[in-house]
Amino acid sequence: MRILGIETSCDETSAAVVSDELTVLSNIALSQDTIHAPYGGIVPELASRQHIRSIPYVVAESLERAGAALAEIDAFAVTQGPGLIGSLLVGVSFAKSLAYSTSKPLVPVDHLESHVYSAFIESRDIAYPVLALLVSGGHTSLIRMDRPLDFRLVGKTRDDAAGEALDKIAKFLELGYPGGPVIDRLAAKGDSERFTFAIPQMSDGSLDFSFSGFKTAGLRLIKRLGLRREHPDFFDFLASFEAAVIHSLLHNLERALETWEPRSLILCGGVARNQKLRARFRAFAGRKGMPAYIPSPELCTDNAAMVAALGHLRLAKDPGRGLDLALNAYPRP
Ligand code: KG4
Ligand code: ZN
Repeated sequence: MRILGIETSCDETSAAVVSDELTVLSNIALSQDTIHAPYGGIVPELASRQHIRSIPYVVAESLERAGAALAEIDAFAVTQGPGLIGSLLVGVSFAKSLAYSTSKPLVPVDHLESHVYSAFIESRDIAYPVLALLVSGGHTSLIRMDRPLDFRLVGKTRDDAAGEALDKIAKFLELGYPGGPVIDRLAAKGDSERFTFAIPQMSDGSLDFSFSGFKTAGLRLIKRLGLRREHPDFFDFLASFEAAVIHSLLHNLERALETWEPRSLILCGGVARNQKLRARFRAFAGRKGMPAYIPSPELCTDNAAMVAALGHLRLAKDPGRGLDLALNAYPRP
């Protein structure tokens, strides 16, 4: 059984072929970073137009690298939402046309769930119940799983996502787009305890996150200090800001564990590429005596291997599934 996955929820055009046992035969992702960089953020209209241009080539390349002809693909999976609606529609329409022309099933997949499932590609025996911390440019969520395919959102951001806060601070400092990886690199040169940022507390006791306050506090400090690359406090500021974001993420994880005890912890999403977050998350899990699963960097950012893998599992549970031509994309969870 070979399944071809397609992911176009944001600014990454990706296609992957995954076989039984979740072996990734190919995982192609074409970044649009250079297109959006001049704007310091994703321009939705440009993103969907670029997906239209790229998707045929990316799918062809994923087939070639997997050594498979289109006719040898047994099923298709596609990200249905949440994400940018124009971008999602390109992937959904293309996947529909492939499934229709080959008379094969098409499995829709939720973007957040596929991020969580990315951890299972490299670790098949993750023990349930699982608590996943998903940190990306569009989402910051805590997801609980008591058994396979049982994804339950237990906390989410009420405003900005963690990656978005990093990207905006980087944009303000003119460090380029996306800012997360640049901050990851530059923060390593600074003192993370130099500046402090207040961690938001939810008055209703929920496990929700908030990052807009960090962003505003960061922007104010940048203005007050007149921070630029050459400023002596530049690296300390970045290290302190990054540390505050990480602290806030782990603070909520800790609170979640006060009421419920999972057997495994997962860290996933684009920001899970961050070196310091990976290390702190591992140390946190170690202190709790729990295994920590963090996917390889290429499986953290948006990619179609996680889509194909989750599609594979959904199809295994529902083998009678076909192609629903009325299938539509959804922008919000
Ligand atoms: O999961 P993803 O590819 O797309 C969304 O679904 O949002 O995540 C993209 C986010 C961006 O905000 C980017 O700055 C951030 O992940 N990111 C990082 C790193 N690599 C990517 N943030 C911190 N450190 C990194 N190394
Ligand atoms: Zn994502």
